[in-house]
Amino acid sequence: MVMHGVGLGFRKEIAEDILALETHELAFLELAPENWMRIGGRLRKLLLQAVEKFPITCHGLSLSLGSPEPLDWGFITQLKEFFVEVPIQVYSEHLSYSKCGNAHLYDLLPIPFTNEAVSHVSSRIRQVQEFLGRKIAIENVSYYCSVDPEMEEAEFISRVIKESDCLLLLDINNIYVNAFNHRYDPFEFLKKLPLDRVINIHMAGHEKVSPSLIIDTHASAIIDPVYELFEWVVKHIRPVPVLLERDFNFGDFEGIMKEVGMLKKIVKQHWVEEHVTC
Ligand SMILES: [Fe+2]
Repeated sequence: MVMHGVGLGFRKEIAEDILALETHELAFLELAPENWMRIGGRLRKLLLQAVEKFPITCHGLSLSLGSPEPLDWGFITQLKEFFVEVPIQVYSEHLSYSKCGNAHLYDLLPIPFTNEAVSHVSSRIRQVQEFLGRKIAIENVSYYCSVDPEMEEAEFISRVIKESDCLLLLDINNIYVNAFNHRYDPFEFLKKLPLDRVINIHMAGHEKVSPSLIIDTHASAIIDPVYELFEWVVKHIRPVPVLLERDFNFGDFEGIMKEVGMLKKIVKQHWVEEHVTC
């Protein structure tokens, strides 16, 4: 069964707060498989409790879809085993790369928007999908410079989705951050994406570090213009799971749950009540 509603990232810093919630307070949890695979002790106990209590989606960090070297089949095999142990609704990854040769980077770097990259990344996504026996979703990422592009980002994303027959994780904060930093209209950008392929949504906060630069931090509250973009999307697509991403600054758990409440309010206003589980 595909679930809808609003969920939260399952991070070890707030795992106990999340597990103390009632099941109706969150529709699902999203976790990074890299952080929870092959673990034992206290963290494994927390994972098993989370799986017991909430539906789970997985959002990967290290598949590195844009890398030039071969896919890491050892890692993908571990993923497949993890998905047997932890049944998941969706597996998503970033449309970016984090490895190049021997370098394992701690950032998600943008893939050049070129024809060659469309073919390369699409082929890698198809291979992963075939091996896992499921469609994966790719996430539009935030980026701070583009490398000699041959097409716009929206066309790049659309072509990769079409050529690999994969799904889209729509990160609305990333669209806002890119539109602000690269000076374009985020609504026009959204209209160019294959919104019928959206399988889930990310919402998050960011930090404005100068009058002309925003950094995508996932460390603060969502701002009103990002809620406005979210509401536009909710009006234009069928109900899908919506995640509040918070990766840092976990001190105010009550404040985080208030943001979950804001997202629920918008979702309930626009999506038919019986489709929304929380
Ligand atoms: Fe995201």
